[in-house]
Amino acid sequence: MALILKTDIYRGNAWHDAFARFLPDVPVRDWDNPGKLEDIEYALVWAPEKGVLATFPNLKAIFSVGAGFDHLTVDPDLPEGVPIVRMVEPGLTAGMIEFVVMSALYHHRFMLDYARQQREKVWHEIEQIPTFRRRVGILGLGVLGAACAQKLRGFDFKVAGWSRQPKDYEGIESFHGADGLIPFLNRSDILVCLLPLTPETEGILNAETFAALPQGAALISAGRGGHVVEADLLAALDSGQIGGATLDVFREEPLPPDSAFWTHPRVVVVPHIASMTIAETASEAVAANIRRIQAGQAPLHVVDLKRGY
Ligand code: NAP
Ligand code: GLV
Repeated sequence: MALILKTDIYRGNAWHDAFARFLPDVPVRDWDNPGKLEDIEYALVWAPEKGVLATFPNLKAIFSVGAGFDHLTVDPDLPEGVPIVRMVEPGLTAGMIEFVVMSALYHHRFMLDYARQQREKVWHEIEQIPTFRRRVGILGLGVLGAACAQKLRGFDFKVAGWSRQPKDYEGIESFHGADGLIPFLNRSDILVCLLPLTPETEGILNAETFAALPQGAALISAGRGGHVVEADLLAALDSGQIGGATLDVFREEPLPPDSAFWTHPRVVVVPHIASMTIAETASEAVAANIRRIQAGQAPLHVVDLKRGY
């Protein structure tokens, strides 16, 4: 029995130290030095080379290092019947709360305008809007979206979420399904995307979506780059329909040097860092799930491949 790790940018040593604490009886192997392939029962991976997971004959679960798992399902030889478990862990959730709250406040407090004014040495006060008059809308009210919604609610923003099924979170207005999308957009001054990338959500941030937002709305895109129709976003930014955007994820990453987003005056670009899995907290969650499997229970947060998330 062994757990194999391919954690990429997510600090290798920290994982080893944490698993030694939470799972001392399970040997941990590095991707480049797997030992006997039949020993590998668990894999914790970000973006493994295609076909490699299928070479572990006794694999019982594939744990995604991230909340998303689209980097796994691109593998046409993914072993059939082995559950894929997405990452749900407090460190990742806390990081996303920080990023979304920071970005929402940035747009709410006109920081794009003040950054331009600073460059131009302009001293001009823009009238402040209280949070209770600012409507934030979160596409995707799952683990991350719901946590961000609740924190934003704590600032007194008017918060709503859009999901497949209706939700019942205190103080958060719930919209759901195709019929709920346009009314949800109509009331969202700051739109946050925290959806998974599925065939239904691909390209969901498009010209029609932007047109349904109040004029000058801000966009915070932190789900996946495939949600955004980039040409439509540029057109909406240039027309002023979208007043500003914080973009963490892109169709092509790293963002190519010739992308217009790099230099757009109404855009903040960051390199897919909205939130990162934290080895110390995530290893505890993975260890707990491995214990469930060892006890004959199904792991938590298994991806429903038919549903797409
Ligand atoms: P989750 O718990 O699975 O939540 C997904 C939410 O999206 C759910 O509320 C779900 O609705 C909703 N949804 C899915 N398909 C929908 C559709 N067709 N129409 C309406 N709503 C739909 O996922 P999560 O853990 O919050 O993570 C969300 C995504 O964030 C990940 O998939 C990943 O792409 C992204 N992410 C990005 C970063 C970053 O650094 N940029 C970090 C972590 C995660 P129901 O609740 O009704 O099922
Ligand atoms: C990061 O993008 C993740 O899916 O956790």
